[in-house]
Amino acid sequence: MLLDIDKLRAYYEGAHDDISLDDVDLERIPAHVSIIMDGNGRWATARGLDRSQGHVAGVDSLREAVTTSVRLGLDVLSVYAFSTENWRRPKREVDLLMHLFATTLVNELPLFHQENVRLRFLGDIDSLPERTRRVFQRGLDETADHTGMTFALAVNYGSRAEIARAAREIARDVARGALSADDVDETALAGRLYTADLPDPDLLIRTSGEMRLSNYLLWQLAYTEFYVTPVLWPDFSRWDFLRAVASFQGRSRRFGGVVSS
Ligand code: FPP
Repeated sequence: MLLDIDKLRAYYEGAHDDISLDDVDLERIPAHVSIIMDGNGRWATARGLDRSQGHVAGVDSLREAVTTSVRLGLDVLSVYAFSTENWRRPKREVDLLMHLFATTLVNELPLFHQENVRLRFLGDIDSLPERTRRVFQRGLDETADHTGMTFALAVNYGSRAEIARAAREIARDVARGALSADDVDETALAGRLYTADLPDPDLLIRTSGEMRLSNYLLWQLAYTEFYVTPVLWPDFSRWDFLRAVASFQGRSRRFGGVVSS
């Protein structure tokens, strides 16, 4: 994606603590960054607030992460907003999250238009509450022609279910003769995942210090660099994003091979 250097410099005006824009190589920005946004509940509890207020505060961080990603010239930003396991949370919290997703999407549509961001969903959004589903569809329709960054929101997403669904689709295609069993390869499977046509993430950020994948993009993260920060999601800023990118750029990615000299 093309980078607007002046806008980026203005966005990252000044230095912040230990990090500034000069610490990253703008020629080597990851194309796809994925984030497991974690710690909303702990952020709220630590302040004597209801967990729901942590999610509300998390919306501000998400808006900033989208803007940061656009300014940095990412092709794709994907975020884990709600897993297939999250239905086990108290009904009140689930209802609040569904409401928040729908409301936020409506509120942020002008930003998506302004920044030419195309929206996409990962997960089974057909079984979401009616209003949430309707608003999601509206977001898809209204941003379908945008040619800038893709913002992929994982909602009602579980990686094992996604892989099983792809396998089912392959089985059906083989059964009806549209695909030969010998042609079932990695490309055939990847093309039937929710992420079909998206590049695999280069960098996965997880906030709040947890060291696990939580059933997120198990297939797609095969060669992704991980960055775990203790920062809770509502506190995650453009500067934390920059720290993650700087850390990513300090790694040597070999994809199972050796470094060429
Ligand atoms: C993890 O914190 C966060 C979630 C399960 C929900 C993510 C939702 C948002 C960031 C709100 C905005 C999102 C959109 C798409 C509008 P947690 O509740 O697991 O925190 P805890 O681990 O401290 O309990």
